[in-house]
Amino acid sequence: MSRQRLDLQATSDEEHVLRSLRPRTLDECIGQGRVIEGLRISIEAARGRGESLDHVLLHGPPGLGKTTLANVVAHEMGAEVVATSGPALERGGDLMGILTNLNAGDVLFIDEIHRLPRAVEELLYPAMEDFCVHFVIDKGPHARTLRYQLRPFTLVGATTRAGLLSSPLRERFGIFHHLDFFTVEELAQVVRRSAGILGVVIRSGGDEEIARRARGTPRIANRLLRRVRDYAQVRGDGVITREAAREALDFEGVDEAGLDGLDRDLLRVLIQVYGGGPAGIDALAASLHEDPETLEEVVEPFLLKAGLVVRTPAGRRATAAASAHLGLPAPEASRQHSLWQT
Ligand SMILES: Nc1ncnc2c1ncn2[C@@H]1O[C@H](COP(=O)(O)OP(=O)(O)OP(=O)(O)O)[C@@H](O)[C@H]1O
Ligand SMILES: [Mg+2]
Repeated sequence: MSRQRLDLQATSDEEHVLRSLRPRTLDECIGQGRVIEGLRISIEAARGRGESLDHVLLHGPPGLGKTTLANVVAHEMGAEVVATSGPALERGGDLMGILTNLNAGDVLFIDEIHRLPRAVEELLYPAMEDFCVHFVIDKGPHARTLRYQLRPFTLVGATTRAGLLSSPLRERFGIFHHLDFFTVEELAQVVRRSAGILGVVIRSGGDEEIARRARGTPRIANRLLRRVRDYAQVRGDGVITREAAREALDFEGVDEAGLDGLDRDLLRVLIQVYGGGPAGIDALAASLHEDPETLEEVVEPFLLKAGLVVRTPAGRRATAAASAHLGLPAPEASRQHSLWQT
């Protein structure tokens, strides 16, 4: 696992804090207007009919609330969550055990569902469609298939790469939601809510300063809030003001656009080594000693959203805004210089 990805995921000692910051009901959720309203309607309708909710697929970049929403859905349905992930389900038997133990109405949450092994995925098809699984007993000429009826459940799948899902799997979901980056105002709300839960005093624009640098991502907003809290406690009087937030985040290497060291390195390599692009993701990854998947799933989405990078059929290009952000001449002019000369 790479630096950036570890950074985005919670370490175990922070896990209980993070859990307490997670919204538990639809009303507690901030932002994601259409997604939340869509889920509210689906849930109310299913409850009205006394049925389990249709299967839900959530996709979008990391840290925008897929796991949170899976738990919220279960809570709103008055159901329990059984959570697992694509890579954890190595063999068919692993999934079979989970499915046969589900109670009526339970939510089965499968994170990183695009990484389910093919053989395991195929077991899901009848389970999703008809709430049944097939066991094969005996071998050769005596082989027989037994049909086992499951209790109705709701599968909530989460993925950062909806494009990698096979179409038979995708088609078996009734409800799709794409999670998009949060606005600065929504993130400021997230920061204020979390500060309240953590018992930190935040004022004079400290919330907005953190929000502006959080890459549209609530998980990052919560992480930056905790770093700023530490800084304000040690270097100041513990109150988070705009000034304290600015100092703390500059100190953390998070710049005014929310870019961290790896983001800036990617832009710099693209501009200075590849003359602004186009460059393929594998070439960029090799130059940065990073994993291409991390660049594509974790680093790039926000750079695209912020208009610093564009994707073309030939590869990634840095925009004029990217050069301006780094204080570099426009790509054409810097083509002659190597990374090491500047
Ligand atoms: N709608 C929301 N309102 C307020 N806070 C939120 C919301 N959604 C997510 N968060 C916060 O953001 C954090 C990250 O959310 P979550 O873990 O659900 O992201 P994720 O999409 O599952 O990420 P990953 O793809 O990395 O698993 C949570 O700890 C939660 O506190
Ligand atoms: Mg998650």
